[in-house]
Amino acid sequence: MSKDKFYITTPIYYPSDKLHIGHSYCTVATDTMARYKRMRGFDVKFLTGTDEHGQKIERIAKDKGVSPKEYVDSIVLWVKKLWKTLDISYDYYIRTTDEIHVKAVQKIFKKLYDNGDIYKSSYEGWYCTPCETFFTERQLTDGKCPDCGRDVEKLKEESYFFKLSKYQDRIIKHIEENPEFIQPPTRKNEMLNNFLKPGLEDLCVSRTSFKWGIPVDFDQGHIVYVWVDALSNYISALGYGGDDDADFKKYWPADVHVVGKEIVRFHTIVWPAMLMALDLPLPKKIFGHGWLIIDGGKMSKSKGNVVDPMVLTEKYGVDAIRYFLLREIAFGQDGNFTNEALINRINSDLANDLGNLLSRTVAMIEKYFGGTLPSEQTGNEFDKDVIKVVENTVRNVEEYMEKMLFSDAFTEIWNLVRRCNKYIDETTPWVIAKDESRRAELAGIMYTLSEALRVIAVLISPGMPNTPKEIFKQLGIDDENLKSWDSVHNFGALSKEIKVNKGNVIFPRIDVKKELAELEEAMEKSMRECVANKGGEEKKSDEFITIDDFAKVELKVGEVIKCEKVEKADKLLKSQIKIGAEVRQVVSGIAKFYSPEEMVGKKVVVVTNLKPVKLRGILSEGMILAASDDGGNLKAVTVDGDIESGAEVR
Ligand code: MSP
Repeated sequence: MSKDKFYITTPIYYPSDKLHIGHSYCTVATDTMARYKRMRGFDVKFLTGTDEHGQKIERIAKDKGVSPKEYVDSIVLWVKKLWKTLDISYDYYIRTTDEIHVKAVQKIFKKLYDNGDIYKSSYEGWYCTPCETFFTERQLTDGKCPDCGRDVEKLKEESYFFKLSKYQDRIIKHIEENPEFIQPPTRKNEMLNNFLKPGLEDLCVSRTSFKWGIPVDFDQGHIVYVWVDALSNYISALGYGGDDDADFKKYWPADVHVVGKEIVRFHTIVWPAMLMALDLPLPKKIFGHGWLIIDGGKMSKSKGNVVDPMVLTEKYGVDAIRYFLLREIAFGQDGNFTNEALINRINSDLANDLGNLLSRTVAMIEKYFGGTLPSEQTGNEFDKDVIKVVENTVRNVEEYMEKMLFSDAFTEIWNLVRRCNKYIDETTPWVIAKDESRRAELAGIMYTLSEALRVIAVLISPGMPNTPKEIFKQLGIDDENLKSWDSVHNFGALSKEIKVNKGNVIFPRIDVKKELAELEEAMEKSMRECVANKGGEEKKSDEFITIDDFAKVELKVGEVIKCEKVEKADKLLKSQIKIGAEVRQVVSGIAKFYSPEEMVGKKVVVVTNLKPVKLRGILSEGMILAASDDGGNLKAVTVDGDIESGAEVR
């Protein structure tokens, strides 16, 4: 019997920045769903990729003195490395610069034109380059981009337009007749009330003022609008419009497009209209998730508050980070990212609850039975309840996973983990172990624990692909059937004579105080690199900078007028620095080398045009220059002699 298909996608990411933990959130969630569906026996196609065209990329590449393609190639390598690190099991990676995609987009554009859905006119309006989006005067918020709040540019160009307005009523009807189409339901009302019901305007779908994009093949000089280009990836990746469209026939329509809330509009209005115009079926579901928020705002490089997923995974391991993202934030809502919350989750849920359950179980089987359980086993009065909790957990987890409610699914699993730890306290194996006549009962308790752990390991597998391997290894489980999703419906499938292998602690506890300071420092370093590098490329060692490059750095003499330690951060000092007429607050990692008292009165050199960042939630508006050597010494750069604060350093 052939398997049912399941086609799931992430948005394709702009390779204009290094991706941060917010992007990883979307991809980890999509990966979890893809893994879950594979385990449930579906023939899954999981698509991700990069959205590589547009004015913004063209400008960044120009600034860097490379071609746009060279620029995106380097970032794509980095993105793929990130997905590998995070164990993202995508089946296909589409790049909008791939030939198969370019050809498909040209065909789509031509088809829409031939059908009369695209027409030529001229465009006058406002364009937000970072969002690659057009706005009318009416749509702007205080003259700025309504999505990101940045400046917009006035454009007047001869352009092609797509008849979006023609599809308005059909889209409204589709949304109203298919309650599952937009998830969660709040996003549906947003689309209907804010965009569809007030009326759609036709969409400008070509540009002539830059080159980096897919050319309209029947009209030289026109470039296909990046959103038409980008949205088409969902079908070009399946071979639509190409020589081999077997995958398209097999997998389209998509079962779910997972997207962030700010791009739900493109996916539930523009994309359906394009598909209707192409006479193709619509995706079954668009799931609009919330944002990872930091210090009350969306994480973004322009705000200088990005969190580097590579730093986090290096420190705590991929499963801990994936668990945190899936558990801490209800999928669909915004959620706060803090280092404290991450470390607390690792300590309480992973080290204490799950880690302890495994290590206690294995250690007891070793201690009381030399590592192998005898087949003679009897039950006890608490088994019934534990088994009932296992069965309920399995049922609820399946229900939540189907709805992509990952946080609820993990909450259920952890209730079971805690129920098992409680079972140890209730049954008191250490008391029973003293009574030779109760060995079968003791063995039965160990069996119940091991079997529950096996079920837990299977249930967490979609979200945490590595931890189950270690749990199975320590419980001596080789049989692949016992690792399958189906096996969780069969409590007792594990054979009685379990042979354990003691292993490492799966999640070591973290010293919160020490770790927070270190983490803060690693984050700061990575963010400074990221902001400085723009695209995160390595600087070649033989590359010189020009005097103009150097002149971009604004250095001034500042007098430290106040200085104090930052609470719970061993390495940080917070200084108020007088620079001419203004006073700036600067946070620096120099507390190990200077006391606050030593700093006051010093005339230091400050970088004054660095983008402000928040360190430990405290605003830092510059950087004190300091020299450090390999021996671990650090000295602040001060000026030789008397000079007014605010004086420029050149
Ligand atoms: N290129 C477009 C998507 C085209 S899809 C046909 C794009 N790219 S993006 O790189 O800016 O964003 C990709 C996804 O990352 C979006 O779904 C966006 O919501 C998500 N996130 C970016 N920052 C995020 C957070 N801070 N939190 C959660 N998701 C975030 O949009």
